[in-house]
Amino acid sequence: MTSTLPGFSIGAVRVENPLVLAPMEDVTNLPFRLIAKQYGGPGLMFTEFVSAMAIHYKAKKTFKKLQVHPDERPLGIQIFGAEPDIMAETARLCEESGADVIDINMGCWVPKVCKTGSGAALLKDPDTAEAIVRAVVNAVKVPVTVKVRAGWDYSLFAAPELAQRFVDAGAQMITLHARFAKQGFEGEADWKLIEALRKAVTVPLVGNGDVKTPADALRMLNETGCDGVMVGRAAISNPWALGRIRAAMVGEAEPPEPTLEDRISIAMEHLRMMVEYETAADLGPPSPELRACRALRGQIPMYIKGYPGAAQARERLTRCSSVAEFEDVLREFVLSMEQ
Ligand SMILES: Cc1cc2nc3c(=O)[nH]c(=O)nc-3n(C[C@H](O)[C@H](O)[C@H](O)COP(=O)(O)O)c2cc1C
Repeated sequence: MTSTLPGFSIGAVRVENPLVLAPMEDVTNLPFRLIAKQYGGPGLMFTEFVSAMAIHYKAKKTFKKLQVHPDERPLGIQIFGAEPDIMAETARLCEESGADVIDINMGCWVPKVCKTGSGAALLKDPDTAEAIVRAVVNAVKVPVTVKVRAGWDYSLFAAPELAQRFVDAGAQMITLHARFAKQGFEGEADWKLIEALRKAVTVPLVGNGDVKTPADALRMLNETGCDGVMVGRAAISNPWALGRIRAAMVGEAEPPEPTLEDRISIAMEHLRMMVEYETAADLGPPSPELRACRALRGQIPMYIKGYPGAAQARERLTRCSSVAEFEDVLREFVLSMEQ
């Protein structure tokens, strides 16, 4: 019997709605995810990628990325690496930390990752890629998923054959960012590639690339036949975008736009949660507050993007070094809007 519910299942893990939060380095950490869940309600979320090598060498700052909070489940922890044994060892630790899903990164195109043979470089090395999937599947009880790009460059749409090999090795979901690795973020994502991959694999398929609005998400579902839609950049400093997309996909009324006060209140909540997160990580100097402020200097200004006169406040926000400074600039901005 086919389910009429809007979500999908990854093995025994039920994903209640088809919206998936993308893994994003230095973005989808625990505070970001808790806010995304509360105000956007995606059915599934992923951590930023976690280096298996860094876990192997017990890097303290990487371990903090393995935290899982009960309110954010189901959660996938994404790992990257090039050595099957080390990936398997890391996957076991992720499972112990509470991951509901282990995701393997085969989409990261940046040189610092690819030169180690990890990320999208694995698209050029199918045997190692398959060995990694098999080793991770054998190491854990939770479902294992793989996030790929279409291939390394335009000369080969490698994803269909690779995905089939990964499924044969035990992978239970595939996500496709519909660009080739060599493209980085250039050009538009080509959703025809998702449609083509849909024909090649029977496990759940999540489509990804350039979804910004509810209409985009519905179009991706309809045109490609994918089971889930992954959203990345559109969710940064904008959990409400996730809420609108989720509502459209499950057939609910579109939630109202947040007010400026809502945006500022959530920006400050995000910052305070980030300070707590850094405090708990206990990484030594600089202070947790300064670490948190530095980490969010890019994101807090984006919460007020688009408001008339926001440019100057946004520029000041990129230099704040304490919670109080952020608060002052945002308060002044609200006052300037009221005049
Ligand atoms: C700041 C940033 C960090 C990213 N980090 C990761 C990552 O850690 N792992 C990963 O698989 N993809 C990563 N990506 C790619 C996204 O998961 C996603 O595939 C891509 O942004 C396309 O989706 P979008 O158009 O909805 O943003 C990152 C993207 C951005 C913008």
